[in-house]
Amino acid sequence: MNTQVEFCGMKFKNPVMNASGTFGSGMEYSSLTDLNALGAIVTKGVAPIPWEGNPTPRIAETPSGMMNAIGLQNPGVEVFRKRDLKFLEDYDTNVIVNVCGHSIEEYVAVTDILSEEKRVDAFEINVSCPNVKSGGIAFGTVPLELEKVTKEVKKHSKKPVIMKLSPNVTSISEMAKAAEAAGADAISLINTFTAMKIDIYKRKFAIANRTGGLSGPAIRPIAVRMVYEAAHSVKIPVIGMGGIASGEDAIEFLMAGAKAVAVGMYNFHNPNAMTDVIAGIEKYMEKTGTEDINEIIALDL
Ligand SMILES: Cc1cc2nc3c(=O)[nH]c(=O)nc-3n(C[C@H](O)[C@H](O)[C@H](O)COP(=O)(O)O)c2cc1C
Repeated sequence: MNTQVEFCGMKFKNPVMNASGTFGSGMEYSSLTDLNALGAIVTKGVAPIPWEGNPTPRIAETPSGMMNAIGLQNPGVEVFRKRDLKFLEDYDTNVIVNVCGHSIEEYVAVTDILSEEKRVDAFEINVSCPNVKSGGIAFGTVPLELEKVTKEVKKHSKKPVIMKLSPNVTSISEMAKAAEAAGADAISLINTFTAMKIDIYKRKFAIANRTGGLSGPAIRPIAVRMVYEAAHSVKIPVIGMGGIASGEDAIEFLMAGAKAVAVGMYNFHNPNAMTDVIAGIEKYMEKTGTEDINEIIALDL
């Protein structure tokens, strides 16, 4: 049985990776799950200088998912390079660095510095975080802004560039096309939906930021629709995510047009979520007599 997938020149053992921000760089999970089993590890967002993130509380539970407003807290690119990239040297999987910024210059600064690093296989540019005041979401909701940041990052990057799209838009196809037109090598989607929860007994917002990003099983059917629309609007490959919790969920995204998938919130529920998803994909393939995962990826529903 073949689960190997080629993605922007990288070879993935299987199409499964973590969604950025839900797995750090794998360090905390390394004693709980087999990092070598993953198609790729996607790091938490990295900025040129450390970001503190938003005030607490930053997480709230919802009936079938969670809301977060972490605000892209990260230690900055230098600590990331010395600590996280060094840690990842010992693992046999692709490394995709998620990049965040307040401005085009900040995105470019990170890609410039990390382009020289052998351990970095690709960049994922987060232009879609709903929880930061400037940058982030603005680049991911206005096609012209998305084109500008994509073009600049592409000029500076020596690695494939994956633009991570926001679902908080009217037309996801328009955004996918804008990324492709500006030279993106791939797109990934979806990031979280802007949402709100009020604690009616405390008479306060459940999250200090007032709004947070909704993720988890609640968003899955919308994510499948958006991945379908985006994948059928462009020729570049797509990483699909949003509420994936089983091998069958992953197969659904591949059938919708994704070439690879990412597991996010479910990692908090089950530290072996991704190895379980990989086992679930293999079980599905066995059950249906599918010899090669690429048969599913090539399906054009
Ligand atoms: C706690 C948390 C932190 C996140 N941080 C990032 C981040 O740093 N960069 C990014 O591009 N997406 C970030 N995301 C979005 C996820 O990567 C993913 O797109 C989203 O959660 C949908 O997938 P899921 O429903 O499987 O969680 C974060 C999500 C969560 C829940």
